[in-house]
Amino acid sequence: MTQTEDKTISSTGDTPLVPMEKIVSLSKRRGFVFPNSEIYGGVSGIYDFGPLGVELRNNIRRYWWWSMVQINDNVVGIEGNIITHPRVWEASGHVENFVDQLVECKNCKRRFRIDQLPVENLEQNKCPVCGGELSEPRLFNLMMETYIGVVEGERMKTYLRGEACQNIYLDYENVLKSSRMQIPFGICQIGKAFRNEVTPGNFLFRQREFEQWDLQFFVHPSEMEKWFDYWKERRFEWYKSIINHKDRLRLRPHDPDELAHYAKKAFDIEYRTVLGWQEWEGIHWRQDWDLSRHSLYSGHDLSYTDPETKERYIPWIVETSGGVDRTFLNLLLDAYEEEPPSGKDKEGRTVLRLHPWFAPVKVAVLPLQKNKEELVTTAQDIHNRLKRLMVSQYDDVANIGRRYRRQDEIGTPFCVTVDFQTLEDQTVTVRERDGMSQIRLQINELPAYLLERVTWNYS
Ligand code: GAP
Repeated sequence: MTQTEDKTISSTGDTPLVPMEKIVSLSKRRGFVFPNSEIYGGVSGIYDFGPLGVELRNNIRRYWWWSMVQINDNVVGIEGNIITHPRVWEASGHVENFVDQLVECKNCKRRFRIDQLPVENLEQNKCPVCGGELSEPRLFNLMMETYIGVVEGERMKTYLRGEACQNIYLDYENVLKSSRMQIPFGICQIGKAFRNEVTPGNFLFRQREFEQWDLQFFVHPSEMEKWFDYWKERRFEWYKSIINHKDRLRLRPHDPDELAHYAKKAFDIEYRTVLGWQEWEGIHWRQDWDLSRHSLYSGHDLSYTDPETKERYIPWIVETSGGVDRTFLNLLLDAYEEEPPSGKDKEGRTVLRLHPWFAPVKVAVLPLQKNKEELVTTAQDIHNRLKRLMVSQYDDVANIGRRYRRQDEIGTPFCVTVDFQTLEDQTVTVRERDGMSQIRLQINELPAYLLERVTWNYS
């Protein structure tokens, strides 16, 4: 199987867009996401991830890493630090250019980013919430400041990184030398970024602390177009392969007036939710901006010498930069479905149709009855064997229908039920989440059967 082949679960048809409140509520109820510092009233735009959330995040990260680093011979990975030398952010242009224009309503005191205000409100200088008068626009830098050192007066002001990718340019030469890479090649990283967003909100969509994944692909200038198109298409296919609602994904070129200061050209991979079409990942033509600027500001020449032609040049860069948190949110919005009662499920159910690779729990092992010791010990034994291979949950609380629904709601792709027949012939029922179909398997066939369906270790 190749990476671009379609590996999504069965299509769910034309289901309505999921309201954000449903995902916020599920996330809290089932332990995916919690508001940070909730007992102190919370902090806007900052969240923590609970037991299921952390599993989902790890699965998302792992799959990205696998498809970007592990299977590409010309891509390697790094993990840079959040704090860097402050000059980095002058060189990168963030101190000067990483700004939003905001206006404040003189009546209700709400703040709005100018680029997010409806045109009519902008023209009439009117607050979209209360109709009050808006202030003059002000520039607001998004970088979060911090200080290194302990002695007052000697402390050095720097910034928490506003985009994770800067470490890649800083480590570029060390990677080149230590890993015997030659251009064209890429460096990947997953890591936290921080922005003092003027209007954080919409749950995980716009946060102040979030996680990005980046590929920075270094090329000869004459090959820029080719590699830009290559990664744009590949990333688009990647996102298409992890969602159910393919018609909600599109590629949109940036207008010249929305380009970031470092980009000559850009496309957004966008996904449609209740928030409308929104950016999921940016594909940026960064050209020689980064390595030239760091050469200039550091005094260290970052140009490259071609080992064969001896040509010396500053490599150009194709960037693909997406968000772990937006992937997390979009996957939940894409997968969530409330099914009405049917012949198969009389009460109806909420189901998360996550790809089995991403599902936080891969299998639940359920004894049919809690008060039959042999059923319980057999189920516990199966769970204890499976949990070494994948995330498994044992559950014997409530009737079997309710237990299935509990697992459907968190996206568990398989439930294994131990019943009276198990005690006679060592077979169990394997119930699959989406179609609710059931088959019987020998207990010793379970590990191979499940592993094949919940991991991406194929050739
Ligand atoms: N290095 C390029 C860069 O940072 P960006 O478009 O500003 O580009 C890349 O960010 C990705 O990071 C976005 O596509 C989005 O997925 C994610 N992202 C950006 N700001 C975010 C925020 N405030 N909260 C959550 N995710 C964010």
